[in-house]
Amino acid sequence: MNQTGGIGHDQWKTRFGFMLAAMGSAVGLGNIWRFSYVAGENGGATFLLIYLFFTLLIGIPLLLTEFSIGKAGKMDAVGSFKKLAPNTKWHLTGLMGVVGGILILSFYTVVSGWSLFYLYRYLTGAYWTEPDGGFGAAFDSWIASPIAPLFWQGLFLVATILIVMQGIKKGIERANNVFMPALAVLMILLAVYGLTLEGAKDGLAFLFTPDWSQLTNPSIYFMAMGQAFFSLSIGICGMLTYSSYLKEKDRLPAATVGIGIMDTVFAVIAGVMIFTAVFSFDVDPSSGPPLVFITLPSIFASMPAGNVVGIVFFILLTMAAFSSAISLLELPVAYFHRTLGFTRKAATLIIGSIVFVLGVAASLGFGIWGGVQLGGNNIMDMMDNLTANIILPLGGLLMVLFVGYYLTKEQAIKNSELETPFLQSAWYLLIRYIIPVIMVVILVGSLFGII
Ligand code: TRP
Repeated sequence: MNQTGGIGHDQWKTRFGFMLAAMGSAVGLGNIWRFSYVAGENGGATFLLIYLFFTLLIGIPLLLTEFSIGKAGKMDAVGSFKKLAPNTKWHLTGLMGVVGGILILSFYTVVSGWSLFYLYRYLTGAYWTEPDGGFGAAFDSWIASPIAPLFWQGLFLVATILIVMQGIKKGIERANNVFMPALAVLMILLAVYGLTLEGAKDGLAFLFTPDWSQLTNPSIYFMAMGQAFFSLSIGICGMLTYSSYLKEKDRLPAATVGIGIMDTVFAVIAGVMIFTAVFSFDVDPSSGPPLVFITLPSIFASMPAGNVVGIVFFILLTMAAFSSAISLLELPVAYFHRTLGFTRKAATLIIGSIVFVLGVAASLGFGIWGGVQLGGNNIMDMMDNLTANIILPLGGLLMVLFVGYYLTKEQAIKNSELETPFLQSAWYLLIRYIIPVIMVVILVGSLFGII
């Protein structure tokens, strides 16, 4: 048990290790699976443009805000707020984050389990050719089965637990030092391969030539903001937890910008890789969440060396999901480790079990519990909507309000570690006025169904 941070609170070995781990957190299913179907459904280039705009205007300043709280607080999600704002209710922001992290991880491991299963099917050659009845039917009936998906989800979760159990330096930092470079190489290989396909031009046009008339469609803004939050891992104190393990001398601003840019570049490269293939094989880009599990395998089956591409793609997707799942698990583990006095190993096992049980519900929602619905949403959709569209933005809003209004201007700017007066003023203006106003408009708008 460690109430004060500092001694006993683990630390990254290097700042670069922290950057890789934070990038590992950011780059995940969000960049590949979620980005491609949300962009595909919301008009491609126009969505990309608004997403980029939100990432720059809200995402990166908010990421710095979240980092600044963790680095100054030097404790977990709840503890950092308690330390900076004793005897107030601000720590509830951290508690909401802990709950949000458990919820996201629960459905995240389900989709990660699908990815792991697909990797297995590609390695054994089972998906090199279209199965009887097609990839669509195969996917639908597989995710509906009661036991098999749970096995892969459980396997993925056990691997995540084993890494988080080992702690920051030996577990999380070491794993990301391997994953992130491998991920970058694989992703670029696949995107370059995509560019050599015949329909590449159409894919690039879809992704980079905006249809300006779409700018008046309000739901694009809502979706783009949710995507920017989810992709950058902001709003639930996961990044806060990672930054609490920094050493005093490791500066935040450059690392923040580096992480934000990397995450965005990964999303764009993933978009190039996926949409060049989608357009080369004349597939509807708005085929929704299954895009990656149904559409891409059909494309791989009909392209030259598609089996190799399939293997590489699902290695990539599984690794990206893994480094994000690790950060999602570390967030509640850090909290329970400190407050309940569990060892790190025990805390990891306990939270892991809770996540598994909730994930079982999400998985069964595609099959025998398919009847559990709210407004047409199954259990996983409910978890995704509640977290990405409500908890993340609300948590982000509370954090900018905390730093912008509870802390003094001097404290806020000192913690941000920004050095030039121009950047200090610009960031402070953003977190105090511009970001809260935009976010309240979007949140309230969506609450009343206007957006
Ligand atoms: N950013 C990850 C992705 O794009 C998901 C993720 C990891 C996350 N940690 C998070 C999302 C914390 C929100 C908060 O897949």
